[in-house]
Amino acid sequence: MEKGNIILIGFMGCGKTTFGKKLSKALGYKFIDMDKYIEKKENRTINEIFATDGEDYFRQKETDVIKELSLDGGKVISTGGGVIKNPKNIAELKKNGLILYLKSTPHRIYNNLKDDTTRPLLADGDKMEKIKTLLGERAPLYEKYADLTANVSHGTVGHITENILKKLEEYQNEKNMRDTRPQP
Ligand code: S3P
Repeated sequence: MEKGNIILIGFMGCGKTTFGKKLSKALGYKFIDMDKYIEKKENRTINEIFATDGEDYFRQKETDVIKELSLDGGKVISTGGGVIKNPKNIAELKKNGLILYLKSTPHRIYNNLKDDTTRPLLADGDKMEKIKTLLGERAPLYEKYADLTANVSHGTVGHITENILKKLEEYQNEKNMRDTRPQP
């Protein structure tokens, strides 16, 4: 059976890279961090891209990379938190993959990002307030596009990873049953 991609969506600092690496290892899939992929292609950091060419330029690069990565499967892809802003990104990703939303709380996200300086969208002003506002705007989109949701706000990385693997297996079993059920 051909392996599709597993696409991790969720807010900055929810753990997409951490869980992505664990899941890819457990499943024998390749791991791709989209932000890192873009940085490598552009030979500069996300901060530099935003500062020099602006957010729109970055969003275009994001969309280009999605097209490229959706051509084949077998990867766990950690996306940037803003990927859901363009519905075309999601349509493209869904062609060859399952969307898994890593759901977290502002508190946990803030804890993960309080000393971070690599997120241009959280660079100015009160970080907690920015997280709350932006998450409020985006949470309905993450929910809407998710094929599966995993709560990652409590528990150890190990336990959460186990829980996600179980969910993926259940999802795959249900899908297999649906696909093999005779059509009326
Ligand atoms: C962004 C999230 C970042 C990165 C860029 C914009 C966003 O990725 O793509 O700074 O709009 O939420 P992470 O979610 O990996 O932090």
